[in-house]
Amino acid sequence: MNATHRLVRLARRPEGLPVAGDFELVEEPLPRPGEGQVLVRNTHFLVFPGLRTLIGGETRDVPLPPLHAGDVLFGPAIGEVVDGPLEKGRLVMHLQGWREYGVPAAAECRVLDGGLPDPVAYLAQGSAAYGALTRLAPVREGDTVLVTGAAGAVGTLAGQTARLLGAARVVGSTGSPAKAERLRRELGYDAAVLRGAGPFGELLAEAAPDGVDVVVDTVGGEQLTAAVLAANRGARIALVGALDGQLDPDRAGGSAPAVLDTYRLLTRSVTVAGYNGVDHQDVEAEWEERFGEWLRAGAIRFPYTPVRGMERAPGALPALIAGESFGAAVVEL
Ligand SMILES: NC(=O)c1ccc[n+]([C@@H]2O[C@H](COP(=O)([O-])OP(=O)(O)OC[C@H]3O[C@@H](n4cnc5c(N)ncnc54)[C@H](OP(=O)(O)O)[C@@H]3O)[C@@H](O)[C@H]2O)c1
Repeated sequence: MNATHRLVRLARRPEGLPVAGDFELVEEPLPRPGEGQVLVRNTHFLVFPGLRTLIGGETRDVPLPPLHAGDVLFGPAIGEVVDGPLEKGRLVMHLQGWREYGVPAAAECRVLDGGLPDPVAYLAQGSAAYGALTRLAPVREGDTVLVTGAAGAVGTLAGQTARLLGAARVVGSTGSPAKAERLRRELGYDAAVLRGAGPFGELLAEAAPDGVDVVVDTVGGEQLTAAVLAANRGARIALVGALDGQLDPDRAGGSAPAVLDTYRLLTRSVTVAGYNGVDHQDVEAEWEERFGEWLRAGAIRFPYTPVRGMERAPGALPALIAGESFGAAVVEL
């Protein structure tokens, strides 16, 4: 084992959206596990847009602490136990990503039981999509489902899950023609709407000419405005994310205003509800069981974009924001 390891720090507070130069790769002595802690050699960690909010500083109601200049980044990680109270060699999931070795408390590690066929799949962000599609905005046979941010970590699983739960037509939005093509070819989307290619409402009307019954919204902004106008009678809209505000260079990442036609909502009996996993503690286990079954049956894919090596980690969040990934962005060590 080396005497040192590498980790990623926030070097300075970004002006607007973070760029690679706002992060630095530093080398430090290997941490020693204290009482009740486990030394874990990380193999994978997730790059996620919520980091922008933690860095932007607008973290009211966010269940994770803000990140200041000099702090080590953190987030979901998979690794192998090297030392401490858990069995050596076991794979665990914990929150000390963005470093080669972590020392999470044993009580805060989840020992992976092999329920998912590939350990990396534990970093999948599908449970929020599944919770939205089964609790807040239940899909019924024959529904048309819109997933905004469809090529992202949540969206790539939301569209496939909607189909497995009975949707007849699945439409998604994304930022690039190449990703739109992958949504159709690899993930079974019927149509993809390109954000920025014209008025979103008009593009959505072409993709979903009979309106939408269920919306899994990870974006907000004009896409949510358009989704409300396209909502059929009794439609259910689940707000899962807010990328439009979270990744707005002129905002701090913790607000996302959108214009909603409330007259349309009430005359069409449309429900709009926010999804916070804290309110749905039973979802994670249920999702994981079904996700595992679907993966083993070849009924669902877990798309992710590997970012290979710690050297590339400082640029990984800006690359995610720039739309360079398809599915989850995962740093592989
Ligand atoms: N409620 C929950 O429990 C829960 C759980 C997980 C995540 N979330 C939230 O769900 C949202 C999506 O998360 P994710 O992990 O799936 O992220 P993600 O989609 O993988 O995030 C990055 C993508 O956002 C898109 N993007 C970039 N700038 C944008 C902009 N200005 N407007 C719209 N899209 C933009 C780009 O995709 P394209 O190039 O394809 O547009 C980019 O690749 C986030 O707000 C996240 O915080 C909520």
